[in-house]
Amino acid sequence: MGAIWARVENCVKDIRRFTDFVPETALVLGSGLGGFGEKVRLAAEVAYSQIGGFPVSTVPGHKGRFIFGYVGKRPVAVMQGRVHYYEGYSMEDVVLPIRVLRALGAKELVLTNAAGGVDKDFSPGDLMLITDQIANFVPSPLIGPNEEALGARFPDMSQIYSSRLQAKAKAAAAELGMKLKEGVYLQTTGPNYETPQEIRMFQLLGAGAVGMSTACEAMAARHMGMEILGISCITNMAAGISGEPLSHQEVQETADRVADQFQKLVWRLLEA
Ligand code: HPA
Repeated sequence: MGAIWARVENCVKDIRRFTDFVPETALVLGSGLGGFGEKVRLAAEVAYSQIGGFPVSTVPGHKGRFIFGYVGKRPVAVMQGRVHYYEGYSMEDVVLPIRVLRALGAKELVLTNAAGGVDKDFSPGDLMLITDQIANFVPSPLIGPNEEALGARFPDMSQIYSSRLQAKAKAAAAELGMKLKEGVYLQTTGPNYETPQEIRMFQLLGAGAVGMSTACEAMAARHMGMEILGISCITNMAAGISGEPLSHQEVQETADRVADQFQKLVWRLLEA
């Protein structure tokens, strides 16, 4: 057994001391979406600190626990809080939770995040369906010896974000009368926001939004054959677009303002 798989199995064993819940869909909650966890019909709760070797977020306002429960009839595992590469964790640590979720039984993964709008047609408060991603500005989480128990050495990434789940998200948005933008998510290491020239480069590359999470998680999940949906909350226009300086406070304020809409959309598509 490889070292990564052994670590995943240890985490699963620790979680199984608290619950035998088997999720169908896993959900990673980004900034502002944290409240979603409280709406789930609770079956069990496990704090990350109760899981041996599990990474715990250092960002203020990020909780750290799994919530297991139901959205309608659907069994879900919700991650309230994630760790980021900029916190100093290795990529292996950053994507460990995703691998644990797959090992717990989840076949589908919904990734959410707060992101800066790179596409000039976006506005703060927009929700963007992620159609594809650019992850070349961060190291691949798949670097290192490949463990066949996880997936292939050279995994195909030609459709990371499932067209079936994208269609479901669009249908849910239409039912709710909500606008849903679409675009490519680009991940940077952070923690600094970008320069205006970097954002102009990202525009040339075709990115719609920029953020500091998600793409590496999606890559690890796809490696394991999960079906993925990604939605970004555009919390601010990226550097140089509006001329205003960027702040974490603006990111949080917009995420909080849109939280209700964001939660309704995710709830609706999980219920379906
Ligand atoms: N850049 C990178 N990450 C972000 C941003 C941004 O402008 N907004 C929220 N997360």
